[in-house]
Parts: sequence; C-alpha cells; structure tokens
Amino acid sequence: RRLLGYTAVGVGGAVAGAGAGTGTTLAATQESAPPADAAGSRTIPFHGPHQAGVTTPVQARAVFAGLDLREGVGAEAVGRLLRLWTQDAAALTAGRPATADPAPALARRPAGLTITFGFGPGLFDAVGKPEAVPAGFVPAPSFSIDRLQDRWSGGDLLVQVRGDDSITVAHAVRVMLVGARPFATVRWQQAGFQYHAGVAPGSTPRNLMGQVDGTVNPKTDDDFDEVVWSDQGWLAGGTTMILRRIRMDLDGWDRVPPPEQERAIGRRLSDGAPLTGGGEHDAADFTRRDHHGLVIPADAHIRRARPGHGRHRILRGGYNYDDGVDTDGNPDVGLLFASYQASFARQFVPIQRRLAALDALNTWTTPVGSAVFAIPPGCEPGGWIGRTLLE
Ligand code: HEM
Repeated sequence: RRLLGYTAVGVGGAVAGAGAGTGTTLAATQESAPPADAAGSRTIPFHGPHQAGVTTPVQARAVFAGLDLREGVGAEAVGRLLRLWTQDAAALTAGRPATADPAPALARRPAGLTITFGFGPGLFDAVGKPEAVPAGFVPAPSFSIDRLQDRWSGGDLLVQVRGDDSITVAHAVRVMLVGARPFATVRWQQAGFQYHAGVAPGSTPRNLMGQVDGTVNPKTDDDFDEVVWSDQGWLAGGTTMILRRIRMDLDGWDRVPPPEQERAIGRRLSDGAPLTGGGEHDAADFTRRDHHGLVIPADAHIRRARPGHGRHRILRGGYNYDDGVDTDGNPDVGLLFASYQASFARQFVPIQRRLAALDALNTWTTPVGSAVFAIPPGCEPGGWIGRTLLE
C-alpha cells in the first residue's frame, strides 16, 4: 500500500509545479512529440516529502552515474547545481523539456521516469559540513569477498535515472550530465534492466542466474517507513543507498545441477518457493531437516541474508546488467545490487558481513564495485533537493 503511495500515475505534462521548459521551446517541440500511448505518457510525481525512485516499483531501465566534484567546487556551486538538477528533473519527469534541453522532442515521453539524487561521503567536506555526515553513514567497509575496482566505486554525487523507455532514460541522463559539467566529472556510469513493469504486474522478476529475485522485500510492513526513511537531522525524509556491482560467473553457474542451484539460494527455481514447500510468498521453515540434514542448508543465501531478529532489513531494488564481454572475452554480466535503508551501518552492513562470511552464492558472484550515498529528502514545488543540507 505504502509502496504505491508515491507512484500515483498521471498523464504526461499534467503534473503541476515543475519549473522549466515552457515558452518557445515547448511550443516548438509539441508537434514533434512521439505518440502518447499510455505507457509513454505515464508520469510519477517528482515533488513530495521523499524523492521518487526509492519506493517506486522498479521500472524497466536504470542508469546510475557517480560523479566527482571538480577541484574548488564548494557549497555555493553545489547549491547551484542542485537547483538546476531539481528544476530539470521536475520538468523531464513531467514530460517537459529541461532548461537548455539539447533534444526537446525526447522529453515528451516521460514513460515512468524518475530522477533521484544522492551525496557521497566526500561531498560533506567539499561543502564545508563534515559534521553533517549522517550517523552510521560511513564509506562502505571492505568485505572479504570484494574485488572492487575504482572504476565502479565511490563518487561525491549520484544521479539515478529510472524509467520504462531506454530513449527517455538516456536523454534524461544526458541532460543531467551536461548540466553537471561545470561542477563535476563523471566517475562511472552503469546501466541496468528489468522486466518491463507491464509484462507481469505485481509479479517478482528474475535475475540473470534465472532465480526469482525480490520476493522477501519490505512492501506493506507496518514499519516500512522506519526501515526505509531516515528521521535524522537534514536527512529526515531521505535514506541511504548502496550500489554494488556484482559480477556473475554465468558459465560456472550453468554447469551446476539445478538441485544444487536451488540449495545455494534455498528456493525453487521454477517458482521461487522456499525449498520447505508452499508458494513463493509462504514462509521458509529454516528448522526442517530431511535425511541429508537441513532442507535449507546452513550456507543457503536466504538463510544467511534474512534479518537478524527482524532488525536488519533493507529495501532491495536491483537491476541486471549485461555489458557484453570483457577484454579477455568473458561475459561481463551481473547484478547492480541497490538497497535503500534508513541506516547504512545498522541495517545493510550486518547483512553484508554475514554474507561475506558464508553464502553459497559467493562461489559464482564477485562484487567489483561499491558506492554509498545519502539520498536527501524530496522537495515541494519551488524548493530544491539538497536544500536541507546546503542552506
Ligand atoms: C534474497 C539473489 C546479493 C540480500 C535473495 C533471493 C535471491 C537472491 C534469488 C531469494 C528471493 C528473494 O527473497 O528475493 C541474489 C543474487 C545476488 C544477491 C543473485 C548477487 C548477485 C545480495 C546482497 C545482499 C542480499 C549483496 C545484501 C547484502 C538479500 C536479502 C534477501 C535476499 C535480505 C531476503 C532474505 C529473506 O529474508 O528471505 N537474493 N542476492 N542479496 N537477498 Fe540476495
């Protein structure tokens, strides 16, 4: 119920309050707008107490960009960038061109677009507010399983663009990155995909290993707000996010017999139900044994990942990636694991520590990138994202 609360669907361009892209640019592009089918004209409100793109059900396509602030860029300049980004994101998500839109016709098809901004650990020093680093928001510790590469890790700023149309998403990314050029350089950019939301509304998607992925995720829980949204200082109404690029050894995985693949997760491949029986959404029985021992083995991913005493919960919203082959000819395929939680240190880190210590999946998965961001609260029309920190 709450999950859907932030994703009211409107008609492209009908959402009030967005600032930019009016006047001649708009008039000039209206005729060339692509046909507004229902999927293409779907809008997700940009304004509100929380940024869109966190609890919004995942769209088909996502691009994440991590940026580094240029030397000498401080609070005033970051504030200018955030005002511009806010104005342009409000326009694009409503189906209107951005301020200096290089291709205004591409803005006319919002297709469920969300644009979400985040601050990396290095931003706080740059804006002269080291004391504003949220409690528990530490640069991600290194885990024993990590083989992190700089080219997929870190960053002072995050732009997360999600939507149901690849062209809309690419255009929004371009607008955001061109706008950022005077202030920041792009450190990395990663693109991911999911099933199109329209393919099977309400059903759980699969990842590239073939598993049903996303079953146990807070959705309608009574404490959903406490799990996801921070109530601390300037971050109140915001959250923290970690993005981990986890490469999959799909060739190795393909050689594993299906029953062993199922034991690695603790769930059936066919429908995602726990190995102890029932349907996908029935509770797993972690105590059940048969003549081999525990039915859901001690190192099964779901046994290791499940919340300790109900406390360590996170909202997962990952995307698959497929970047072809690397320079050695091996498939460069995996998961852009994204999770959102009120406290990074209290909720995410304990789960990741457990998985690093023991998780059958580790045989076929390798984290190669990691970046953590504080996601500021949303804003109302006339406001801007980041104001609670920077003003
Ligand atoms: C559950 C796959 C990495 C946390 C699951 C499930 C699958 C899966 C198939 C069972 C279905 C579900 O409830 O969604 C993967 C793959 C990964 C990966 C393929 C890496 C490539 C991670 C990481 C974390 C994580 C890095 C957190 C640090 C969880 C949690 C659950 C889960 C919390 C739900 C456990 C429960 O309470 O039943 N994952 N996962 N996963 N995963 Fe992962």
